[in-house]
Amino acid sequence: MVTRQNDSPRTSAAAKRSSRSGGAGKRARGSKSTKSQSQGGVTSPRRVQGGVATSDVVTSAHVGDNAKLFARILALHVPPGSRVADVTFGKGVFWKLVDDDAYEVHASDIELKPAVVGARPSFLYADGIDCRALPYEDESFDCLVLDPPYMEGLFRRKTDHMAGSGTHAAFRVAYSNGRATEGEGEGEPSKRPRWHDAVVDLYARAGREAARVLRRGGALIVKCQDEVSANKQRLTHVEIITGYESLGLYCKDLFVLVRPNSPGVSRLKRQVHARKNHSYFLVFAKRATRISSVLDFSAGGLDRRV
Ligand SMILES: C[S@@+](CC[C@H](N)C(=O)[O-])C[C@H]1O[C@@H](n2cnc3c(N)ncnc32)[C@H](O)[C@@H]1O
Repeated sequence: MVTRQNDSPRTSAAAKRSSRSGGAGKRARGSKSTKSQSQGGVTSPRRVQGGVATSDVVTSAHVGDNAKLFARILALHVPPGSRVADVTFGKGVFWKLVDDDAYEVHASDIELKPAVVGARPSFLYADGIDCRALPYEDESFDCLVLDPPYMEGLFRRKTDHMAGSGTHAAFRVAYSNGRATEGEGEGEPSKRPRWHDAVVDLYARAGREAARVLRRGGALIVKCQDEVSANKQRLTHVEIITGYESLGLYCKDLFVLVRPNSPGVSRLKRQVHARKNHSYFLVFAKRATRISSVLDFSAGGLDRRV
């Protein structure tokens, strides 16, 4: 049971100290506590046997920006003091509302934006790290954050075919390393995953690495957005959830983030699909026992695939 402290969540050093001395995350459910605990601007009220009645809880749908929701997700799912690898650090926007010393943050990217390196004094920065081949030991992190380019327009063989050209260049710089790609995998470039499959392929390869470097019980926080590609609805979040199940990653929580502004459309002829103004944060737990949401209804009964 958690309550929000104020409208601007911040993870705090105090919460970190609380965790290190056996804080909220380690306490048995329903047990008594003498102090309130604060984590990321989310404060657990004084607990009593059987809990407290409140409507002030972290909810699954938010209107707003990444930074605010990300801080809340950390507060709910990642104990302060945890060792966290953000392997697609980008501009570090996710961390804007998180205190410098709340976590041990390892910030890496295939191409770190120069302005971010060193901007957060306690963060450890590493440039030129591909999230599909991490230089970390097995089971060495408590949490991994993954937010790769989420749309097929950012995976093109020529830069002038990529999304975010001209006046939208800032978008391309923020959401990708701005380079064309031949696609991953063996064999002829023409046989490698393309378009939407290139997006999912990156999530798949990075997910395998995440499953390797996370300790058991560790959390994987993934940002993604569905897309319409070649006029087909592609539910990226479903593909990631079901694909990650095969890696022993259980989708423990799902957050929907709704843009506060209206999405603009240039050259609309006839609208076929709803224009997406929402994205997802998925929280996976690495666990020994698999829990499946991949089902086959065709045989009449209920067949769980994992
Ligand atoms: C959507 S942005 C991440 C934004 C970031 N979460 C933030 O808060 O600013 C995607 C990032 O993934 C990086 N990237 C693309 N391919 C990558 C790869 N194979 N390995 C690591 N980073 C990659 C890009 O350079 C870009 O910075």
